[in-house]
Amino acid sequence: MADCPSTRIGVAGYGYWGTKHVRVLTSLAGVQVTVIEPDEERRRRARADHPEVGVVRDLDDMLDGLDGLVVVTPPATHARLAIKALGAKVPTLVEKPLVLLEQDGVAVVEAARAAGVQLMVGHVFAYDAAVRKLRDVIASGELGRVLHIDCARLNLGRYRQDCDVVWDLAPHDISIVAHLLGELPATVSAWTHRAAVRAAHADVAHLRLDFAEAGVSAFVHVSWLAPEKVRRITVVGERKTAVYDDLAGDQRLRIHDVGVDLSDHDAATDSGSPVVHRCGDIVSPPVPGAEPLMVQDAHFVDCVRAGTPPATPGEQGLAVVRVLAAADRAASTGAPATVARRHTAAGAGWGRTSVEVAS
Ligand SMILES: NC(=O)c1ccc[n+]([C@@H]2O[C@H](COP(=O)([O-])OP(=O)(O)OC[C@H]3O[C@@H](n4cnc5c(N)ncnc54)[C@H](O)[C@@H]3O)[C@@H](O)[C@H]2O)c1
Repeated sequence: MADCPSTRIGVAGYGYWGTKHVRVLTSLAGVQVTVIEPDEERRRRARADHPEVGVVRDLDDMLDGLDGLVVVTPPATHARLAIKALGAKVPTLVEKPLVLLEQDGVAVVEAARAAGVQLMVGHVFAYDAAVRKLRDVIASGELGRVLHIDCARLNLGRYRQDCDVVWDLAPHDISIVAHLLGELPATVSAWTHRAAVRAAHADVAHLRLDFAEAGVSAFVHVSWLAPEKVRRITVVGERKTAVYDDLAGDQRLRIHDVGVDLSDHDAATDSGSPVVHRCGDIVSPPVPGAEPLMVQDAHFVDCVRAGTPPATPGEQGLAVVRVLAAADRAASTGAPATVARRHTAAGAGWGRTSVEVAS
């Protein structure tokens, strides 16, 4: 926006992911970035990496001079920083997971409503053209009725101190599948495991998310302890199957014309196979290559400038936190847990993410 010379965006946290936010924000026209970082060595690195950005130690030193804040700190600190910024009427983008406790999520959403400013959650895959294309493919009926969804998000992960692998990685899969189906799961089952000796939290987990309206279950496998990196979502339909593989370069989305049909299997004699395989073409539709984080942060800046609501509002962050909290309950009881809906349905806008974000 050439006639808006400088939108002042603070980035709290210059760790692994904060460096990426600063890279994309500093590349946007008319954005002036200030890094807020308590660690001296990281402040020094921010100045060295980006001599043009401001660098301060504490959010209090900066709050008056910000048009927007991006919170990229450890999840346990999100609620305090967001409530402080929103209380000062600063629109705020908070990385996933929005918070680590349901009541903190409610407080953050209420703080944004009370201040009348935007709260956005960093569900970055809502800004991924391949995910949006996959949602359109499902909605077009090309796959037929969705029968099953399988998600895998595995690698030798960065072990976090303040949350387990479910809270770290599953927000991506929960938000992606909610965007694909346009609804939240009604119940969650979870099996968590502390596989590495001395791991503070579960580092391997399997979830089952049951979507009532779609009548579909999604199975989610997350791990910090896998030698090979996997970022894959498979949507099995009655007619075709779509595979979204975030690591597959320019073929991130592939539609397989495969499936099974009932055969003339004789149940009485149990002879022959009950199904026959159908194998057809594999098609990889083109998807724009824009970096999702760039699209997300540009959208946040646009919302700040225009005063418009974001495509991934805080309510979506709270909704995902409620699913994660249900997963905790399910893992501890061994029984499926119901996802709480209070305060979340209104404004979460899962179906609305066709929001026209520039890509
Ligand atoms: N969307 C994604 O794909 C993605 C990927 C990685 C991380 N994340 C999220 O980003 C957030 C940060 O993760 P990370 O891996 O960069 O963590 P990190 O530990 O590498 O970095 C966190 C940084 O925040 C700083 N910090 C701590 N308290 C602070 C405060 N009060 N004010 C300002 N800075 C403070 C720390 O000193 C550190 O530099 C987490 O919420 C994480 O879930 C998102």
